[in-house]
Amino acid sequence: MQRERLLKVLVVGDLGVGKTSIIKRYVHQVFSQHYRATIGVDFALKVLNWDKQTVVRLQLWDIAGQERYGNMTRVYYREAVGALVVFDMTRLSTFQAVLKWKRDLDSKVTLSDGRPVPAVLLANKCDHLSHGLCPKLPKLDNFAQDQGFLGWYETSAKDNTNIDAAITHLVKNILSAE
Ligand code: GTP
Ligand code: MG
Repeated sequence: MQRERLLKVLVVGDLGVGKTSIIKRYVHQVFSQHYRATIGVDFALKVLNWDKQTVVRLQLWDIAGQERYGNMTRVYYREAVGALVVFDMTRLSTFQAVLKWKRDLDSKVTLSDGRPVPAVLLANKCDHLSHGLCPKLPKLDNFAQDQGFLGWYETSAKDNTNIDAAITHLVKNILSAE
């Protein structure tokens, strides 16, 4: 018998870090240079044939970066079972905002047993490696661990780098915790 699991996963991070682009790449295999800010929240669904027994319906909640200044995140976060926290490798301020997003998450949502929602950290736009802050960024292993992330990945929505790997890591953790 196959089981079907619906997983609500949040994608958060500051304005313009590439949340929508990551989701579009993951779900539709497309990328656009054009920036159009998300208003409020958007949704995308990807169905994964996870294993012989399991179909995963992955519901991605694409939260607008500007929502950090609003009061709606508590509503958007409800019943989430995982999160991707994204920053833009080329803009230090978006890295500093990672802690704010992580605290916002942890203060407003937990799993039903009270544990924090599992989260993976994405250092996006790694295709810009040569002219960003990236060479100055320390390896994030310790940071990610200290802040309670499952792990971190350098990603590029443009080049399709590590997006599958990061999301698979998250989903594996969510399913194994059940
Ligand atoms: P908000 O909706 O305002 O919160 O922004 P967002 O996080 O959804 O950012 P979005 O995906 O709209 O991307 C912002 C800009 O960055 C767009 O111009 C994208 O083309 C560009 N971008 C996103 N990901 C990448 C990437 O991996 N590499 C490069 N070079 N550009 C990227
Ligand atoms: Mg967006």
